[in-house]
Amino acid sequence: MNFSAQKESVSSSAQNEARSDGGSRFKKIDRVMKRHGFQQDALIEVLTSAQESYGLLDEELLAHVAQNLRLPLSWVYGVATFYHFFSLAPKGSHQCVVCVGTACYVEGADQIQKDLEERFQVSSGSTTADGRLTLSRARCLGSCGLAPVVVLDGELMGQQTSRSAIAAIEDAIKDEPEESHQEAEVTGSAEEEP
Ligand code: FES
Repeated sequence: MNFSAQKESVSSSAQNEARSDGGSRFKKIDRVMKRHGFQQDALIEVLTSAQESYGLLDEELLAHVAQNLRLPLSWVYGVATFYHFFSLAPKGSHQCVVCVGTACYVEGADQIQKDLEERFQVSSGSTTADGRLTLSRARCLGSCGLAPVVVLDGELMGQQTSRSAIAAIEDAIKDEPEESHQEAEVTGSAEEEP
C-alpha cells in the first residue's frame, strides 16, 4: 500500500492531541487494544471495534490507535482508507453502492452511476447535502451473474437499470427527514476506476 505522506503531516497535530487527552474519550478502544496486548497485528480488529463503537474513524482516533500500537500514523490511516467497511467521514442515512467491476461495467454500471449522480446531485464517494444518501462504488461484489449490481442499505439488487435503481433509492429515502449535512467525502479503497 502506498500511503500518503501528506496525511501524516496533516494529522500530526491530531497525534499530539491523542498523546495528551485521547485516553478518556477512547476508553472502550483502549480496552480492546489491551485485550490484544497492544499487538500491531491486531490493528484491523481494533479499527473494526472503533468503527462499531464510534460510527467513524476520525483523525484523533486514528492517531490514538497509532500511538498505542506503536505504528506510523500513515500506516494506520492507510489501512483505515483501504477497507471499504471503514469510514473517516459521517455517512448518509442511506447507503448506495454501485458495482463497477468488469461484469457490471460491461452491463452498463457506469451509466447507472452517472444517472444516480445526476438524479441525486451527489458525486460518487460523497454524501448528499441533505444527509440522506451516500453514493459510492465498489469493484466486484462477487455476484457477477446478476450484473449490473447495486447494493442499497446492504440489500443486493441484481440486473439493475438506472430507472430501477433510482426508484429503489427514492423509495428508501422518501420518508427520511432532511438534515443539515455538509457534503463529505467517503473514503474506501473499494472505489476504483474500472
Ligand atoms: S463485477 Fe459486479 S458483481 Fe462482479
